[in-house]
Amino acid sequence: MWYLCYFLHRLLEYRLPEVESLAKIYLEGDPAALKEVRWKQPPNCHSDSPFYYINLPSEDIARFIASRSILVKGIFEVWGVESSYEELRLAIENYPEDRKTPYLSADSTFKVIVDCFGKGLSLKEQTERINSLDYIPFQGRVNLKSPQHRFWLIESDNDIANKLLLPAMQKLIFFAREIGLSDRSILTKFELSRRNYLGPTAMDAEIAFIMANQGLVRRGTFVYDPFVGTGSILVAASHFGAITMGEDIDLRVVRDGRGPDCNVWSNFKQYDLPLPIGLIRADNNSPPWRSSLKEDMHGIGNWNAESDPSSSSS
Ligand SMILES: C[S@@+](CC[C@H](N)C(=O)[O-])C[C@H]1O[C@@H](n2cnc3c(N)ncnc32)[C@H](O)[C@@H]1O
Repeated sequence: MWYLCYFLHRLLEYRLPEVESLAKIYLEGDPAALKEVRWKQPPNCHSDSPFYYINLPSEDIARFIASRSILVKGIFEVWGVESSYEELRLAIENYPEDRKTPYLSADSTFKVIVDCFGKGLSLKEQTERINSLDYIPFQGRVNLKSPQHRFWLIESDNDIANKLLLPAMQKLIFFAREIGLSDRSILTKFELSRRNYLGPTAMDAEIAFIMANQGLVRRGTFVYDPFVGTGSILVAASHFGAITMGEDIDLRVVRDGRGPDCNVWSNFKQYDLPLPIGLIRADNNSPPWRSSLKEDMHGIGNWNAESDPSSSSS
């Protein structure tokens, strides 16, 4: 089934690879299903556009991708997409009844959300657009706080594309059922300004989480950062269940930090994450993992293993 993947207008070249990685995680062990994951775009859309269609084997995978993705805004089942409200009405009316009926029933609750790519709409504009959908036979009750079904009216047009330096794009109006939305609140939780131990090159949380997604990190994955610094990449990986370990050439980074309560370890404790299994001081120019080099390095004192000084078990 084809779903609308509505992206945020950020880090454009990372968007598709991030979603493909999440599909790989979900479909691990099912290469045939993974082969079916494909992209297409609405006609005349530039590759920088936020609108892509993605072929996915189920709603469950769509929900998983949306919930873990950093760059997806939401994934939707499109009931109609056109360039004008008159055409949109025809498209929605022609959408198969059996796809619509389960979400319109009298015992359900629903909400319609109006969204305009790159532009905020006033409450009056939103209400007008919602009222224009009066031909859709919703029989359930409106529930603004926790509806069972959420429908989105998403608009985009050329004026907005110009403002965002996107190539010309025809006006598009989607009416779609929400399958899943991204939860970017983790970026607030993990933002660097709240981080206990920070360095001048600490990795921004958004990039660290995208890296964890593209690195196919899931429960039990082992993630080793050979340039660990303050551990930001490992923190993101650990949030997704990875077992982590880090290395840095700078002994002050892996051993001392800025004191017993402000170091790589405390960055994990801050979020109640499992601690790295170890931090080692080593130089990647002569990696300690090569047995032939290891002895030499012992000889010149080139690597030291560190564990959390406040823990007796590690
Ligand atoms: C850009 S910082 C990494 C920042 C880290 N991602 C963070 O979030 O804090 C690069 C780190 O690599 C370390 N480094 C540089 N050269 C190295 C080498 N040859 N072997 C191991 N670590 C090295 C530096 O000491 C520094 O802490």
